[in-house]
Amino acid sequence: MKLTIIGSGYVGLTTGACFAEVGHDVLCVDNDEAKVATLLRGEIPIFEPGLEDIVKKNVAAGRLSFSTSTPDGVAHGDVVFIAVPTPPNPDGSVDLKYIEKVAREIAPAIGDYTVVVDKSTVPVKTGEKVAETILRYAPEAEFDVVSNPEFLREGSAVHDLMKPDRIVFGADSERASALMKKVYEPFHAPLLVTDIASAELIKHAANSFLALKISYINAVSAICEASGADVELVAEGIGMDSRIGRAFLNAGLGYGGSCFPKDIAAFIAISDQLGVPFDLLKEVQRINRNQLERFIDKIRDALWVLEEKRIAVWGLSFKPNTDDTRSSVAIELVERLVAEGAEVVAYDPKAMDRARSLEIGSKIRFAASPEESTRDAEALVIATEWPEFAHADFAAIRESMVAPLLFDGRNLLDPATMRKMGFAYEGIGRGISSDAG
Ligand code: UDX
Repeated sequence: MKLTIIGSGYVGLTTGACFAEVGHDVLCVDNDEAKVATLLRGEIPIFEPGLEDIVKKNVAAGRLSFSTSTPDGVAHGDVVFIAVPTPPNPDGSVDLKYIEKVAREIAPAIGDYTVVVDKSTVPVKTGEKVAETILRYAPEAEFDVVSNPEFLREGSAVHDLMKPDRIVFGADSERASALMKKVYEPFHAPLLVTDIASAELIKHAANSFLALKISYINAVSAICEASGADVELVAEGIGMDSRIGRAFLNAGLGYGGSCFPKDIAAFIAISDQLGVPFDLLKEVQRINRNQLERFIDKIRDALWVLEEKRIAVWGLSFKPNTDDTRSSVAIELVERLVAEGAEVVAYDPKAMDRARSLEIGSKIRFAASPEESTRDAEALVIATEWPEFAHADFAAIRESMVAPLLFDGRNLLDPATMRKMGFAYEGIGRGISSDAG
């Protein structure tokens, strides 16, 4: 099929590449000329495992191309996906100006019947607005609007797209529905077809539920600390119940990234607008913020004063396997340590370039390896659970530090092992039982 993706950011580019990979003829459009030029040269502006390979392969096969022209995009695609940013407003609601602009630009270019698909994460009822906008600028246009939320996770986006748990789309016409089924046929995934409003809600409800699971276990982690229980064992025990499941029960510094914080705020805002305030989600946010506070309190309790203390921080990305630092709790932690006068030496396997370009980048030092970062440090803080951190040379690290304080904000390491090696280990919600083994 001939498909167009408008917006070649994280979701748009990966989706376009995966559609091409299964045999569709895909044109990715972006109004950023520099980005399109980069992509045309075969370079990928983001780090995402496996993405570069499939982009190169499908460009070479002639199934994937790039353009800056929306009219060309609309002329190319039987189905046109909108995957432009939906940034937050200061009050947490979603700024839909880019979606509105694309709808306006698409309208006059529509020739033959076209399915316009909203792939960006948007509040419920946005589909209606897109249809209204297209009709306002092209009253004769033959089209349908479909909502098709995206569930990909950064760091495993290609896998999530190629082998999805489920495909969800909401359509109000048989004709649009039939075309969408054809688009997704090669993926052989379970399919749920709904009305447009339900599909839009599914995305916000799914992400909020996952965030709720994280805040739930984080709240439990505080009780574990107060009672001497080990949150890792508690998570294992409750996760063995198939109705609950172990996934997203990892206690830590809380959730970050470009999706969860924004989507939860947006779901709260749209619920307020609809007159049904979703107060449970406000508590989810509060617990998430509190998790970082509790962690900083622990560091302060140990070091007494943070000013002039050298602190090594491992991990800057919002989670492992990505270079994305947007709404990263690790970055927020570094900012807080620096604000209190600490001297931070950071290391991250992929995110240091991005971190350097942030405001905080000029206020910290970057190390070339985990081992280099801890030299003469008074504390080591693990802020992102990159698997390779677990294999660092801890004996050498222990020797090179001024004081062996280890704060594991992601419960990456085994407390008993670390304590045996001479570290004063502090994790999240890890009480006395973890020492027993
Ligand atoms: C998320 C959703 O998983 C995905 O379906 C949606 O399309 C976009 O938002 P992403 O933001 O890429 O994906 O990352 P995810 O793996 O979900 O992690 C989000 C945050 O939660 C990270 O900061 C991570 O560290 C944190 N997290 C996750 C926990 O603190 N504990 C967990 O158990 C799981």
